Amino acid sequence: MRRCSILLPFILVLHEPGSQAVRRASSSMADDEAAPAPAPAPAPAPAAGLKESIAALYDECSGPWERLLSDHIHHGFYDVGEDASSNADHRQAQLRMIEESLAFAAVPSPDDPKAPKNIVDVGCGLGGSSRYLAKKYGAQVKGITLSPVQAERGNALAAAEGLSNQVTAQVADALQQPFCDGQFDLVWSMECGEHVPDRRKFVSEMARVAAPGGRIIIVAWCHRNLEPSETSLKPDELSILKRICNAYYFPEWCSASEYVNIAKSLSLEDIKTADWSENIVPFWPACMKLLLSWKGLTSLLTSGWKTIKGVMVIPLLIQGYKKGVVKFAIITCRKPGAA
Ligand SMILES: C[S@@+](CC[C@H](N)C(=O)[O-])C[C@H]1O[C@@H](n2cnc3c(N)ncnc32)[C@H](O)[C@@H]1O
Repeated sequence: MRRCSILLPFILVLHEPGSQAVRRASSSMADDEAAPAPAPAPAPAPAAGLKESIAALYDECSGPWERLLSDHIHHGFYDVGEDASSNADHRQAQLRMIEESLAFAAVPSPDDPKAPKNIVDVGCGLGGSSRYLAKKYGAQVKGITLSPVQAERGNALAAAEGLSNQVTAQVADALQQPFCDGQFDLVWSMECGEHVPDRRKFVSEMARVAAPGGRIIIVAWCHRNLEPSETSLKPDELSILKRICNAYYFPEWCSASEYVNIAKSLSLEDIKTADWSENIVPFWPACMKLLLSWKGLTSLLTSGWKTIKGVMVIPLLIQGYKKGVVKFAIITCRKPGAA
């Protein structure tokens, strides 16, 4: 009986017509002129125990995610309209997400003397990005996460790949990074911002630890930008977002325009953003197929309630993308000063 109730959302999503239909998302071209957004509102007080809940979620779900899918806990990047069947290599698509992000931010290539040598990975998960960037650039990478399980596993994976002297992971808060000012020439954050209760502090901490001329890359789930005539999202959109928040321990959604406005207010330069919602369309349906496999179901049933709750919300997430209220965005900028 319990299995049936858990399976229901999977079955619903697999039968949902046009999982590919998140197509109404706008272009993935660089967009220096994001739609104007109201000045960033004061950050809401974080819910009690938010950090602990996020840590517990990732302590619980990271092992099953790694066994089932990948050591990267983020979306893959696909060509728009790509038919990514179950045979598609979704881990490869995750690596492409990293490459597309670096290209979008115009990070110098490894043979360029200006290539990054000191990198911080904010919200590092199992360190998938950390290890990739360390190998690509021969760089030192420090990762931070709220999850002790992730930090330990990230360090073990780095050791297994012979990267212990380049890559470290530790438990620390993105809003109080344990690093000196101006330490990193690349500040990287892949799918962490959505968990953070104070976006202004989040970006200003990234700017603080960035070296003069250092690049900042934020890839995050956002809500759609408001139209100039709007002061808030529609009630049905807010309702979807609220239910997703509850499952994933997101404090409150923001738009890409809000990130852009924060970056502007901090005098950051070369601010660019793009909506990549169309490029991640196949990812969640692919995850659902994996979860419906025998390995997926057994992993899920032995994982824990927080993981199960997160999986049950995937159909809602897909619905949010289809409705155009959930967006997948990249925001990049540079700290003023010498590159
Ligand atoms: C979806 S995972 C992404 C992991 C990783 N960036 C990747 O792409 O594989 C979200 C990560 O953000 C981290 N996180 C959330 N809030 C954080 C905070 N306030 N400080 C540090 N890390 C945080 C979580 O611990 C988790 O590692």
